[in-house]
Amino acid sequence: MISPLSRRQFVTTTAALAASAFVPRRLFAAAPSGTQRIVIRTDSEIGTVRPEFHGHFIEHLGSCVYGGLWVGKDSHIPNLNGYRKQAVEYLQELGVPVLRWPGGCFADDYHWRDGIGPAAKRPKRVNIHWGEYVEDNSFGTHEFIGLCRLLNAEPYFAGNVGSSTPHELRDWIEYCNYPSGSTLSDERAANGSAEPFRVRYWGVGNESWGCGGNMRPEEYARLYRDFAVYCRNFGGTDLFLVASGPSGNDSRWSRGLMDGLGWERPQGVSMHYYSGGADRSTTFTADHMSEQFASYLKVEEAIVQQRAVLDSYQKGKEIGLILDEWGVWDDIPEADERRYGKLWQQSTMRSAIAAGLGLNIFNRQADKLYMCNIAQMVNVLQSLLLTDGPEGEHCVRTTTYHAFSLFKPHRTKTTVRVESGDSSPSGLSVSASKSDKELVVTLVNPRHDVDLQVECTLKGVNPSPGTAQILHDAEWNACNTFDHPDRIVPKPLTLRVDGSQVHLDLPRLSVATAVLPIG
Ligand code: AHR
Repeated sequence: MISPLSRRQFVTTTAALAASAFVPRRLFAAAPSGTQRIVIRTDSEIGTVRPEFHGHFIEHLGSCVYGGLWVGKDSHIPNLNGYRKQAVEYLQELGVPVLRWPGGCFADDYHWRDGIGPAAKRPKRVNIHWGEYVEDNSFGTHEFIGLCRLLNAEPYFAGNVGSSTPHELRDWIEYCNYPSGSTLSDERAANGSAEPFRVRYWGVGNESWGCGGNMRPEEYARLYRDFAVYCRNFGGTDLFLVASGPSGNDSRWSRGLMDGLGWERPQGVSMHYYSGGADRSTTFTADHMSEQFASYLKVEEAIVQQRAVLDSYQKGKEIGLILDEWGVWDDIPEADERRYGKLWQQSTMRSAIAAGLGLNIFNRQADKLYMCNIAQMVNVLQSLLLTDGPEGEHCVRTTTYHAFSLFKPHRTKTTVRVESGDSSPSGLSVSASKSDKELVVTLVNPRHDVDLQVECTLKGVNPSPGTAQILHDAEWNACNTFDHPDRIVPKPLTLRVDGSQVHLDLPRLSVATAVLPIG
């Protein structure tokens, strides 16, 4: 755990800052500012930043899959065999370690056989969860695997427990993973892939306490055992089964699940934690923004407490804790949904800060987590890419995309402890990771009214001058739009390295990453 030093010792804030609460902002000629000192203990290791902490999720919902990633081969929108070309290129550049599909709530009403075979013959089904529109199933198992291959992402299927049978899930696994010679594997080959898909990650239901079946934990645990016994390592692909875990920090569900599982142990348990927002994404008030940021303290608490619940069971330590769905869920006006698709939400500078707060937490709690998937990749909730509706040709990288890109240098490194002396919801958020050659530090200033001068003392290493990038806009409702797609993008940030100290300016509402050679 972080051992916080006293706030007095580490935060020296100007008198103007204290006064700012009582003086209208327009009277200030210069921004209030403060100095914040942090200590990075490079010899105090926490855990590995698994690339899977930067995982993603796509659902048949609004214009995430249809019209977002999948436009079809005959579309006027430039595409690679049906996949939106611009989206694929942006995602390839970012790197997608793992991709979860087909839901969400949708997963427990999805029958995989609807999405295989000649596209023209696939049945048309009503999407009961997300607006009762009709899907033609042109995006199915092969198309999803094709997308994963394009993105070099590990596929993660969410199986249907709520309205299906162990037999249906077992057959899907055989269809995907058995090499050849069985009726199902030969069907896969006839549908275009002689090579097995070798899918490791299988969710056994989604939100089984809610849209995935409205179950009590003991009812779900019973069903989990029924399903898991038939989920086999066909063709030698070691399955990683994920049981449906709690909504937020609901330990009653987690304990009920673990008690009901008896000796059965899934490889992973999923938790979903959304950070609700009271306003439309582009018209947030400062107070509502602060409330949303404060929820990240709860996210961190939930990770620590849910880990402790799992660890308290025999062999519980071997279960990976997966934050399967996370991110900001703002108030979404119906007009936006009609225009762009269900749950379409802009991503603003506020959203980028929220992404930074979350990703910093995952680094700091690296020893407790296995995977985290932001909801969702395109056009839904806190998305990385936005398109102007299913027919629109525009595709922009959101502020959240850019926040993710600033965390990329952490992947596979080992996180180390940071003392910042400020654990308040609006305090500076920091995480650091190292390899033999580099130290990476990401700092997030969630304050909308304070610019910070940060002084980092590195204990255990002397860095060489490195490079840094910053994502910043003083206007929290600012965003990348179809007219101004690059309003908010990472820019170079000047660092001053002085012995074991690194100095940088961190303006209000910013996410910055410094990469420092330490060899
Ligand atoms: O991501 C949107 C929805 O949120 C998912 O379908 C569901 O799992 C969750 O409630």
